[in-house]
Amino acid sequence: MPATIMETPTARTWGQSVDSARHPVARRTADVLRSRSATPNVFIIDDEENIAQAVESGILLDSIHATHSAVRRDPRLLGDVDPAVPRFVISDSVARDLFGDQKQARVFAIARAPRPWSLDELARRPGDIVILDGVQLVGNIGAIARTACALGAAGLILLESGLRTPLDRRLIRASRGLVFATPLVVATRVQCAAFLARERITIAALTADAAQPLHTIRTVEERLALVLGGERHGISADLEAVTDHRYAIPMSSNVESLNVSVAAGIALYEHLSRHRTQ
Ligand SMILES: C[S@@+](CC[C@H](N)C(=O)[O-])C[C@H]1O[C@@H](n2cnc3c(N)ncnc32)[C@H](O)[C@@H]1O
Repeated sequence: MPATIMETPTARTWGQSVDSARHPVARRTADVLRSRSATPNVFIIDDEENIAQAVESGILLDSIHATHSAVRRDPRLLGDVDPAVPRFVISDSVARDLFGDQKQARVFAIARAPRPWSLDELARRPGDIVILDGVQLVGNIGAIARTACALGAAGLILLESGLRTPLDRRLIRASRGLVFATPLVVATRVQCAAFLARERITIAALTADAAQPLHTIRTVEERLALVLGGERHGISADLEAVTDHRYAIPMSSNVESLNVSVAAGIALYEHLSRHRTQ
């Protein structure tokens, strides 16, 4: 008779099997998935890569969950995570019910929310600050968080993004877990403008109709707040009003604008290039 999952030595580290939506573990997962809190105590991280990235960034895990089919495929999954973290195997049908019309995860963790970053903490970090003014597509925000982390930015400020918390499942996925390694603050436009004035941070708006070509950003020695606008309406009048510089990335005349995450990556890289001798 072939060995079942629960009989193999490695799979034995996987604890209770959750075969009913009424199981306390399933109920807790459902509660966490349903939460709309802006300051949740716990949150969900999908997929092995994102869980591993979160752990590397110091996030504490409450529990790890995987469907029967995921464990069957790889009983050793997340083998590097602290064995003291409880593991549960969830039946595939319970997992389907739990996630409903949200994206279903084969592997996920319930993690403890880290203390949120403040604007003042962002100011004390080196590097440019990326301000997303009305950027609403979570895929774009996640891609920018990943690029900001890769290019050594201080962090991101989200204005009118529609996200209540940086601990949003979709954002964690879109950033490949790098949202934990990149300070991200959700703020209002008023809070953001007051913060930039208080800290005397030079503000540079990225906008396709600016007169200054982006390469001239290399002459700005100090750190910048780089403001990028939303997918539909661009930068708001409130932020435009407090801008010190405006830069455009030159494009072919038949293109109206770049994707905001592409523009953010080019701008961050260009300003970083001021430190390059050639
Ligand atoms: C898709 S675009 C927004 C297009 C929008 N219709 C508008 O009126 O600006 C999103 C953001 O990407 C940045 N962006 C896109 N193309 C750019 C370019 N060629 N130069 C500088 N920034 C650009 C700007 O910050 C812009 O607000």
